[in-house]
Amino acid sequence: MSSTAPIGVFDSGLGGISVVRQIVRDMPHERVLYFGDSANAPYGVKTPDEVRALSFAIVERFVREGVKAVVIACNTATSAAVNDLRDTYDIPIIGMEPALKIACDRGDVPSDPHHIPQRVIVAATPLTLRERKFAELMDRFDGDNEIVKEPCPELVEIVESGRLGDHDLVMRTLHGYFDRYDLNRIDSVVLGCTHFVFYRDYFRELLPERAAVIDGNEGTVRHLGVVLESLGKLAPENADGGVKLGNSDPSERIAALSRELLDA
Ligand code: DGL
Repeated sequence: MSSTAPIGVFDSGLGGISVVRQIVRDMPHERVLYFGDSANAPYGVKTPDEVRALSFAIVERFVREGVKAVVIACNTATSAAVNDLRDTYDIPIIGMEPALKIACDRGDVPSDPHHIPQRVIVAATPLTLRERKFAELMDRFDGDNEIVKEPCPELVEIVESGRLGDHDLVMRTLHGYFDRYDLNRIDSVVLGCTHFVFYRDYFRELLPERAAVIDGNEGTVRHLGVVLESLGKLAPENADGGVKLGNSDPSERIAALSRELLDA
């Protein structure tokens, strides 16, 4: 596979476009083939077997299209399928997981020898939060920190239905999920679903200034760069990057929404 081959990026729908934006920003010479599976979204309320089958179908198609790597721009599909996909295909498969480490590492202050326990809410899909992969991640950090899981499936539906700009609806939905917490005690909220990254400004409005809003997009794209570089597969600096958006829902509504989210 040549270094000018595209990178395949997929998600259950439109959330992964937040990752594509990060790739465009950080790796502008790369060509991206994006596939959103909006016809089958949301993944977060499906069974792991269903999500695995859908993920395999997408990666199979990417491989036929000659991609040099795949980014699973979906925490849910990563939980259900990343290990099996890596066992099956010999191209790099980059997965995502809620950025709990970044949130908990904020308790390691250079001027203080003791870890300051962090109070963290992880917002993700029900499937991500139920899966073994997340339980293992949680095991690494919840001894020293206070971590709570908040499944927020409605936040996926709002993006997919094009209602992200409806301020009242979004704030009402966020209050529905988060009013049960004393947000003044929270150190950070981890956006453990790529759809939720589009809500950053709304979370800022919801949370007191001291609470951080953390997502894993930047780290994922950095990791992608390191992997491609180690294989000598980074696109050359004279290459023209670009994004081709695809979706299992062929409607003009989804195409327009995808472009809008990419350009926002
Ligand atoms: N965007 C996906 C994630 O990062 C999942 C959304 C869904 O389809 O439930 O987990």
